[in-house]
Amino acid sequence: MKHFLDTQDFSRSELMDLMLLIGLLKRADKQGALPKLLAGASLGMIFEEPSTRTRVSFEVAMTKLGGHALYLKPGEIHLGVRENIKDTSQVISRMVDAIEARTLKNQTLLDLAANATVPVINGLTDYNHPTQVVCDVFTMLEHKLPEKELSDLRVVFIGDATNVCASLLMMCTRMGMHFTHVAPARYQAPEAWQKIGRDNCAQSGGSLTITDDPLAAVRDADFLYTDLWWWVGQEDEIPERRAAFMPRYQVNAELFAAAPKHAKMMHCLPASRGVEATDEVLDHPRSIIYDQAENRLHAEKAILVKFIYPRLRKAPDELKQWHAGRIQSFLTGHGLDLP
Ligand code: CP
Repeated sequence: MKHFLDTQDFSRSELMDLMLLIGLLKRADKQGALPKLLAGASLGMIFEEPSTRTRVSFEVAMTKLGGHALYLKPGEIHLGVRENIKDTSQVISRMVDAIEARTLKNQTLLDLAANATVPVINGLTDYNHPTQVVCDVFTMLEHKLPEKELSDLRVVFIGDATNVCASLLMMCTRMGMHFTHVAPARYQAPEAWQKIGRDNCAQSGGSLTITDDPLAAVRDADFLYTDLWWWVGQEDEIPERRAAFMPRYQVNAELFAAAPKHAKMMHCLPASRGVEATDEVLDHPRSIIYDQAENRLHAEKAILVKFIYPRLRKAPDELKQWHAGRIQSFLTGHGLDLP
């Protein structure tokens, strides 16, 4: 069973194909001509944490493709409480065509996937956020200078080594791009992620830089990217983290001015405005944060089509007519037909 848990599970060409599909589906949708490729399909959406973009984009994507999504909000289903994950995963798999899950722990997602008989899509864990970064690189392709290739692009992530940072590091290096993580030493990408990035670069020709110098890092950036400085469960560390990042690692007008004049500002959102980035930068004419957020919808459509469409049973018309006739005869014979 192929799941979408980590961009590392896919080759550069598979990821490029996915981005081409995003472009095709986005264009069709914008022209009101999106085919109902997932008619009759259902997506179970399990959330252990709140979400705006991931929840809305997956649900709307299913509707636009002719399918249906069930929002299973935090605390609404048994997930390792009153029922083990295996039973939940097996049962939901019998009723839906794919499962999207946002889990607090990456291990919960892996356990769900190990027991599922339908594709499982990672909607963010404490380790990574693959659907976000497929959308991000697609957005970069839309907003890059026309004379640049994907392999020319320099992406500078400023801030904490979040789950989004992990996925962006892995996606960019896999795609042959040039990725820099800028943070104070103790908040930099851990060695295990760096190794994955370096191995990717050895295959793709990309590069990975880890530094604590934001001004130097952004000097030749095409895209600046930041994310929250603290995450769920790190509330006790807020004063310490704020002291470590502020003001040197805040993406503000001064840091943005140090980047090239074509550089674009990105943020996966939600943002803590005035903390990791200022309003001036988030609302700057070269900020693409809302294009990026919209592209979650188009990216989810492509991911759903890639994983669900090939698995849908497409019965021939004769078989559909044969079943319809038998069912109709039964209904008529048992007084269940319309008067
Ligand atoms: N970027 C992102 O995943 O946003 P949500 O938490 O709103 O889904």
